[in-house]
Amino acid sequence: MTDSHHASASGRFDIGGDLPVHRLGFGAMRVTGKGIWGEPADPDAARATLRRVPELGIDLIDTADSYGPFVSEDLIREVLHPYKDLVIATKGGLTRHGPDSWHPVGRPEYLRQCVLMSLRRLGVERIDLWQLHRIDPKVPQDEQFEVIAAMQKEGLIRHVGLSQVGVDEIEAARKHFDVATVQNLYNLTDRSSEDVLDYCEREHIGFIPWFPLAAGELAGPGSALSDIAKRLDATPGQIALAWLLKRSPVMLPIPGTGNPDHLAQNVAAVGIALSDDDMKTLDGLAEAA
Ligand SMILES: NC(=O)c1ccc[n+]([C@@H]2O[C@H](COP(=O)([O-])OP(=O)(O)OC[C@H]3O[C@@H](n4cnc5c(N)ncnc54)[C@H](OP(=O)(O)O)[C@@H]3O)[C@@H](O)[C@H]2O)c1
Repeated sequence: MTDSHHASASGRFDIGGDLPVHRLGFGAMRVTGKGIWGEPADPDAARATLRRVPELGIDLIDTADSYGPFVSEDLIREVLHPYKDLVIATKGGLTRHGPDSWHPVGRPEYLRQCVLMSLRRLGVERIDLWQLHRIDPKVPQDEQFEVIAAMQKEGLIRHVGLSQVGVDEIEAARKHFDVATVQNLYNLTDRSSEDVLDYCEREHIGFIPWFPLAAGELAGPGSALSDIAKRLDATPGQIALAWLLKRSPVMLPIPGTGNPDHLAQNVAAVGIALSDDDMKTLDGLAEAA
């Protein structure tokens, strides 16, 4: 099925060269409580959102052990296990000390525990895509990469991703394992990872932009982004997603929500055809922002 409200219309990307997903995925950070801490305020809406994910053709779900912590992985298992044609990508390496409080711990024994516990919570024998949430600056990089490579060799992890890294760090990691994806902050108005995106495109590494819907003040009424949105009968958020999908064939946006209606609205962005002129206008707006 390929229609304008089905994630298949976003195109396909093969993670690590052999794990096909539709390019528009889902970020499961928002099915947790305020400050990404504890249970969601509306658990029924969170469950309904997860149920809709495969119905809308999304087959890539991004989560992390630290979302809740554990709440997001537990809900995914409760609602979607066994995962039929679904890639569950999780992360480890960040500890939680309360709402909005995140602390990297990259000691090898902790990273191993992260993977073993995610396997148990998600109910799988191997994690399709495990991402190091942050490189811990207090631990030698090689020690963190070595244990990840070991866990991949042992069959606990299929593909490895990194998060919030620069090109130097990706190259250092590639001495230990193939980097299948990179997940960095990136959206219409924050292009600080442009060099990393270009590198990923050259090297056929999936680029997962987090905070993809942010359009800041550009999304406000009367802005030029709102004008394009109005002309295309879309919302500014949908334009931000359509711009990402057109920006690069390795782009795998994972907009996050705990609201099933917002999820459907975000998937409908796959049906928006931005012209080259629209792209130029949006690029210009972002540069000026
Ligand atoms: N690697 C990292 O360090 C890192 C950091 C942050 C996030 N992430 C990942 O990236 C994913 C996306 O990032 P994000 O959730 O921070 O940002 P985002 O997807 O840009 O925005 C999510 C926010 O937008 C709202 N929203 C979503 N769809 C909407 C719609 N159609 N209409 C109105 N509001 C809408 C959501 O609220 P509602 O729930 O009310 O819809 C939520 O507050 C996360 O879920 C997570 O998987 C990774």
